[in-house]
Order: sequence, then C-alpha cells, then structure tokens
Amino acid sequence: RRDDPAHRSESPVSNAVDRDLLVRLHEAVGSAGLVTDPDRMRGHLTDWRDAYRGRAAAVVRPGSAEEVSRVVGLCHRAGVAVVPQGGNTGLCGGSVPDSSGAQIALSLTRLRRVREVDPANQTITVEAGVVLENVQRAAREAGLLFPLSLGAQGNCTIGGNLATNAGGTAVLRYGTMRDLTLGLEVVLPDGRVWDGLRGLRKDNTGYDLKHLFIGSEGTLGVITAAVLTLFPAIRSRATAWVALPDPQAAVDLIGVLRATAGPRLTGCELMSAQSLEFVLRHVPGTRDPFTGAHPWYALVELSDPMADAGLDATLETALGAAFDRELLLDAVVAEGSARIAALWNLREGISEAQNQEGPSLKHDVTVPIGSIPAFVRETDEALRAAVPGIRIVTYGHVGDGNLHYNLSGPLGMEPDVFRARAEELARIVYDSTARFAGSISAEHGLGQSKRDLLADYKPAVEIELMRGVKRLLDPAGLMNPGKVLPAE
Ligand code: FAD
Ligand code: MLT
Ligand code: ZN
Repeated sequence: RRDDPAHRSESPVSNAVDRDLLVRLHEAVGSAGLVTDPDRMRGHLTDWRDAYRGRAAAVVRPGSAEEVSRVVGLCHRAGVAVVPQGGNTGLCGGSVPDSSGAQIALSLTRLRRVREVDPANQTITVEAGVVLENVQRAAREAGLLFPLSLGAQGNCTIGGNLATNAGGTAVLRYGTMRDLTLGLEVVLPDGRVWDGLRGLRKDNTGYDLKHLFIGSEGTLGVITAAVLTLFPAIRSRATAWVALPDPQAAVDLIGVLRATAGPRLTGCELMSAQSLEFVLRHVPGTRDPFTGAHPWYALVELSDPMADAGLDATLETALGAAFDRELLLDAVVAEGSARIAALWNLREGISEAQNQEGPSLKHDVTVPIGSIPAFVRETDEALRAAVPGIRIVTYGHVGDGNLHYNLSGPLGMEPDVFRARAEELARIVYDSTARFAGSISAEHGLGQSKRDLLADYKPAVEIELMRGVKRLLDPAGLMNPGKVLPAE
C-alpha cells in the first residue's frame, strides 16, 4: 500500500481525520481522486483573491456523480464535514475549508461532461464541474445561446454558479442562474442521490426542491448535474460606451433604453470614474474611449437573434433621446466585434485591476433601481467622512439595481491599517443598504464573509425557516458548516 495516502506518515494534516476514512476514500476515488500532498492541496485551500485560507484533511476529486455519492456517504458515516468547491472564484469564502484541518474539500472539477444538448427542448444537460465558458461554447456549437455571462467565466463552474445563484451581465434580459435552471441532480448530505434532472418548463407537482439547492452555497447538498435553458443564438449586437453626470442619469437612461429597445436591451453596466481609472492603469491594452474625464460611465448593449434587427438605428434613437434629456455627456457606439470586446474589457477588468491596488473590500448589494442615486450619495458621504481619501470603486449591474460598492484604501495608507477598518466600513454600506430596503448580497452569496451579518439584516423568522431547512436536509450539520447561516 505504498501509494495509499492514508499510510503516509509525512502528511501533517491527515492526522485530523480517522485514517480509516482516508483509506476508504482512496478506494472510492482512486489515486487520481485523492490529494493529500500539501503542495497539490494548496490551490484548493484558498480563493481567487487569496482573501481566505483554510486547511483540510484531504482534497477529494471524484470523477462521477456515483463517486460523489460514495464520498459524501463515507464522510457522513464518519461524521466528517465536506466543503464542496468548483473553480474557487467565489467572492465570499464559501468554498474555502475552515482552519481545523478536519474537513474534506470536495472538488467537482472532474465532473466535466456535457451530457446532452437537446435542440427541440432548448436545453443542455451538464455536469457540475463544467467551466461556464465551455457551456457557452457547447450551446454555440449547437447554434444556441447559454446567456449566463460573468468576468470569471473562464474559471468558474456550473456547480458554483448554481450554488451561488450567479448573476452577471445579462440578468436584465435572461435572469439569474435560478431562472436558467430546469432540473438538478444532487447528492444529499447522507450520500443519497436526488435525480431531479427534468427538462420541464411546467411541473407543478408540489414544492420545487431545486430552488432550495440553488443559492445554498454547498450547505444543503452537492450539485452534480443540471438541465439548463438555452435561447436562440445572438446574430446582431450594438454596444455603446457613454459618459454620465451622475447615477440619476444612469437610472433615467435605463428607462429610455427600455422604452426604445424593449427586450433587446441585454446589458447596462455602470462604472464610476475611479473604476475606469484602475482599469486603465492596470489592464494591459486598455484605453479610454473618450478624451476627457467624466464622473460616471455606462456600457450599454442591445442584442437580437435576427441578423438584420436594425439595432444600430435603435441604439442611436435611444442615445439621441437620452442626449435630448441631457442624460449623457458623451457617447460612442462600437463598430465591429474587436471594438465591442475592448469596451467589455474595460468593464470586466475592474475586479482584477482593483486587486492590484491593495486590499479591496467588497460589498455586493442591491437596492430598488429608483433608490440608487440617493443611496450612492448618502453612502459615499458616510464612507468619506469615516476614511478621508478612501477610493470608492462603485460599479455593477445597474439595470438589476446591483452595485459592487468596493473600497480601496486612501493612497499611502498601509494595507493592514485599511483592512482593520473593514468591519466598520461594511456596516456603513450595509446599514445604508438596509435604509433603502436593499439586500446585503445581490449575487455573490454569504459564504463565510457575510454569514454573521445576516442576523442583523434579515428578519429572524426568515433565518429560523432557513435553519429548519438546514436541519431537515443536513441534521448532522456536515455540509459546508460555518457558511451562510449565522452562528447560533
Ligand atoms: P466556488 O467559488 O468554487 O464555490 C462557490 C460556492 O459554491 C461555495 O460555497 C461552494 O461550497 C459552493 N459550490 C461550488 N460547487 C458546488 C457544487 N457542485 N455543489 C454544491 N455547492 C457547490 N458572481 C456573479 O454572480 N456575477 C458576476 O458578475 C461575477 N463576477 C465575477 C468576476 C470575477 C473576476 C470573479 C473572480 C468572480 C465573480 N463572481 C461573480 C463571483 C462567483 O460567484 C462566480 O465566479 C461563480 O458563481 C462561482 O463559481 P465557482 O465554480 O468558482 O464556485
Ligand atoms: C463583477 O460584476 O465584476 C463582480 O461580480 C464584482 C466583483 O468582483 O466584486
Ligand atoms: Zn457582478
């Protein structure tokens, strides 16, 4: 048993769980599926930003749903906690194990089969570890569209997208991951498999259980596959970059765009001048579409399945109406796919660019769209009073009322000094969000970063019902403990 990791005495972490479990896990997934070597485990014990770090007894990488079932069943019987993970691009630390070294990190990335594309039903059935970009590609190859779209799409997995109910840049037209899902296959916390892989658009046979697992961040079970909805492929696109005086102009612009383009409005992304400044400084090959600086910018996109949908003319009509109402300071319409991609690069580059500027304190919030101007005004004012010189990197999916209210420290402030203010600054943003009847997590989830805050921002009865669901599905509390639900 030389290659049996359970018998290696040099592993410093595997002592934390019963060695017998490691032997059984090895039997269940083979050498390719069990990682105990600290160097190979490292990438599984942190997140994309390296904002959270944990330890684990082992990383288990099953190659099929049957293997996931066996692994979860073994951990259940041994009383060992399991932390599901996909691409580790989540922004709330949900996929990172705790520091005990007693948990098993369960990576789903070997479940990467596209099981079926069904053009008649306009659905695709994929396993949890398929990278989002590969789902988009499979749909495209079938002449169809899978519309979920976000900056991490080259690394995040469908399982992670489902577990966080990911949103992204096309929610305005197509909805969130919840809206794009017809069926799920889930391994329950005791190892049983729920085969709910139904591709039905109508199914009123009682409670819709898939919605419990979508957005549950790995705390109720392990998603192993899903049936997702597809749409007609996009054959024409019109994209503009506009400059705005203030957030009120952005809210009014959305009204104009909706009235003119209806469902062909697929994206409306807002960025503060600070966001663009970071991108231009840190993302190679980017350039400002305008010559002068402006306070706010928006990226607007119309799209349509018809090749000759006349989108350029529609966009020009809308922008003309917006200029007439003095909503715009400047505007440029991109010509050709390279220019369109360059504009999206300015938007999608913000997260990465902000990482280069030291710690980025992330606050992913929603408020009703009409409240955005007052919300931004009041929140900015309170943040600037708390930390003079703070760099406020506000941007996001304004059409959904979703802003990423991300903060970087003032120039010259030591990273640790700024980090030490994180809790106080989060309170400012979330108290303001609550005053405007918003949510403290729009699309990133709660993970470990926001779980304890929940008790202050969600009605107690709602949290009690959530605990009841957790107790029902996971009475032993072994699925991703310490995430989502506030400590009791
Ligand atoms: P992970 O990070 O691996 O996991 C996330 C959570 O899901 C964890 O709680 C984990 O336990 C759980 N989980 C993972 N797989 C499973 C599974 N199979 N079964 C059960 N639970 C599971 N999010 C948005 O919504 N919109 C955006 O626009 C957006 N943009 C981003 C841009 C960048 C640059 C980055 C880095 C992240 C962005 N995100 C965005 C955040 C993130 O939520 C998404 O990237 C994605 O949904 C996470 O997928 P993942 O596979 O990396 O999941
Ligand atoms: C985005 O929309 O770019 C991400 O969800 C925001 C972030 O990285 O904070
Ligand atoms: Zn986002």
